[in-house]
Amino acid sequence: MKVGNPFIITGKYVSNEYFCDREKEAAELVSNITNWRNTVLVSQRRMGKSGLIEHVFAMPEISKDYETFFVDIYDTANIEDFILLLGKEICTRLQSRGERLMEKFLMTANSIVASFSADPITGMPSIDLSLNGTNSAGRTMEQIFKFMENNVRPCIVAIDEFQQIADYHDGRKIIATLRKLVQNCKQTRFIFAGSNRRMMGQLFNSPSEPFFMSCTPLYLEAISLDKYAEFVEKHFENNGKHIEKQCIESAYKAYEGHTWYIQYIFNRIYENTAKGETANEQSVEIAVCNILDIFGHFFQEMLIAVSERQKSLLIALAKEGKVKNITGANFITDNKLKTASAVQGALKPLIENETITREDESYRITNRFFSIWLARRY
Ligand SMILES: Nc1ncnc2c1ncn2[C@@H]1O[C@H](COP(=O)(O)OP(=O)(O)OP(=O)(O)O)[C@@H](O)[C@H]1O
Ligand SMILES: [Mg+2]
Repeated sequence: MKVGNPFIITGKYVSNEYFCDREKEAAELVSNITNWRNTVLVSQRRMGKSGLIEHVFAMPEISKDYETFFVDIYDTANIEDFILLLGKEICTRLQSRGERLMEKFLMTANSIVASFSADPITGMPSIDLSLNGTNSAGRTMEQIFKFMENNVRPCIVAIDEFQQIADYHDGRKIIATLRKLVQNCKQTRFIFAGSNRRMMGQLFNSPSEPFFMSCTPLYLEAISLDKYAEFVEKHFENNGKHIEKQCIESAYKAYEGHTWYIQYIFNRIYENTAKGETANEQSVEIAVCNILDIFGHFFQEMLIAVSERQKSLLIALAKEGKVKNITGANFITDNKLKTASAVQGALKPLIENETITREDESYRITNRFFSIWLARRY
């Protein structure tokens, strides 16, 4: 499939052609799968976890031999939502491989009721699931696992934003049940992905948690500059456009190679560069200005929603980029932030709602475009 702009930013995995590098990480994930290890995949937000999973699921050595299921549970609020989402993914995937397999699944997980209709917009057939209440959620989970364990092809289940389960009513109990089911699997493998490093760390590394040391960790860092530069050049040249090395390097460095942000910038630069033209360092600034203009309204709203103290903290953090000692005297006096306890008070809710990220002992604003916008504006 050929796309209009090779720098994809919608989050939908298209194909190997538009996916940069991740060779080592993909090999590690494949090795975990083929060697019967469950994986816990963690990275900062927007670094490429979901993309990596989809990329690995599309690799011939996986798609040929395994049944793969991928659910992003970010929007689920309870175990019933979780079951319906996983059930729908299983039905949809199996249906594409023949009605019989899907019927077998629905017979095994007999509390799940499926109804079929045509999507009112696309006209495509769609499946709606509900629970008939015959069995408890725990029993239905057992049935789903039983189906996967008895499937001819081994199954791989990727659960994205896994930390969400901890927020369910009875979250701890559900995690413990899930752990037991996972532990009893003989052929089904799991990938648990999440961006909330603190929560994921606690769930998988804390001795008091059910999943303690039960998975092999895979931490996703930025793609290297060399690999990313090669990827950018390839797509420009293949489409009759040119780009200076310096242009790639300066965008990459300004955003520390953070995948979605650099993809977004090159998506713009690609659009702004006509066939036969060469993008240069100035093209980065033009693209960033375009982007900040587009998001400006939205960023303004974000600022209106926070307290004055939080606003001052965000501006100070944006100006510094990254801060190690956030309650240190220097940061406080340089930015007129009053006291350490005022900073702590402002920081806590901003960490909780992920506006600020703590990474490797440093703090920064999670959304790098928001950070640049604040630093330029105030
Ligand atoms: N290797 C890659 N090559 C090119 N683009 C990529 C790559 N990995 C991710 N992307 C792009 O970067 C963006 C973010 O990727 P993805 O959604 O996989 O990140 P994530 O870590 O799952 O984010 P979140 O924490 O928000 O769930 C997407 O638009 C995706 O298309
Ligand atoms: Mg994701």
